[in-house]
Amino acid sequence: MAAVNPVQRRVPLIAGNWKMNLDHLQSIAFVQKLAWTLKDASHDFSAVEVAVFPPFTDLRSVQTLVAADKLPLAFGGQDVSEHESGAYTGEIAAAFLAALECRYVIIGHSERRTLHGETDEQVAGKVAAALAHGVAPIICVGETADDLEKHGASAVPVAQLRTALSRVDSAADIVVAYEPVWAIGSGQAATPEQAEQVAAALRGVVAEVLGEEVAAKTRILYGGSVKSGNIAGFMREPNVDGALVGGASLDVAEFAAIVRYQKHVGL
Ligand code: 13P
Repeated sequence: MAAVNPVQRRVPLIAGNWKMNLDHLQSIAFVQKLAWTLKDASHDFSAVEVAVFPPFTDLRSVQTLVAADKLPLAFGGQDVSEHESGAYTGEIAAAFLAALECRYVIIGHSERRTLHGETDEQVAGKVAAALAHGVAPIICVGETADDLEKHGASAVPVAQLRTALSRVDSAADIVVAYEPVWAIGSGQAATPEQAEQVAAALRGVVAEVLGEEVAAKTRILYGGSVKSGNIAGFMREPNVDGALVGGASLDVAEFAAIVRYQKHVGL
C-alpha cells in the first residue's frame, strides 16, 4: 500500500457520467443548478475537482455556459474515436472534443466494452488519440462477477490497463477509473478495502509502464453504485482519488453531497 504524503496528495476528482440521460436544454439547467448549489455551499474547487460527462449533443451547450459564467467545472465526452478523421459514421474525433474545451474523455467504459464490443486494443487507440489532442483520458477498467470468481479482483483490470497504456508515452496526463462491472448500477458497491486493493494494483501498473513519478500523480477513481452515503469510505483509502458516479450524478443535491464528501469524511 502506497504511503500518503499529505503535501503531495493528489487533487481528488468527482466525475459524473450522465450516460444517455439529459438533453442539451436539460444539461444547461442541470449545470447551472449544480454550480449554484456548490457555490452556495462554498465548495473549494481547488480541493476537489468536479467534472460532468454529458451526451455529445449537450457538450456545446455546456461549454458555452461554463465559459460565459466562468464556472469552475470541467466537462468531457463519454467516448472518442481512435481515428483522426474520415469515413467513420457516428464517431467523434478527439480533435472535436479538444475544440470544445473538453478537459477529459471517458474511455473503455464497461458499457462500451459489453454493448459495443470495444476491445482493449481499441481502448489503447482511443487513449492515444485523446492524448494526442491534449484531452486527458479517464481509462475505465473492471472485472465482471464471473472474472471475480475465476481470477480474483485485480487480474482483469490490471491486464486491461496494461494494454490501454501500451501506446502512451511517459509524460502522460491520465486518470484511471476502477469500475467493477458487478457494482455498476446494481446498488452493490465494492467495499472500500476491495477498491483500495485494486487501486493499489492499478497504480503499480502505471508505475511499471509510465514510471513512479507519473504513478504518484495519477488519480485513480472508484466507480460503481457510489452515493453520498458511501463516498466517505472510499475517499479514506490512500489509493482512491475520487469517484466516477453514474446514477447518483443525475440528482443535483445527491451529486453535490458526493462532491462535498470532505464534510462527512473527516479528512
Ligand atoms: P452507477 O454509479 O450508476 O453504479 O454507475 C457507475 C458508472 O458506470 C459510472 O461510469
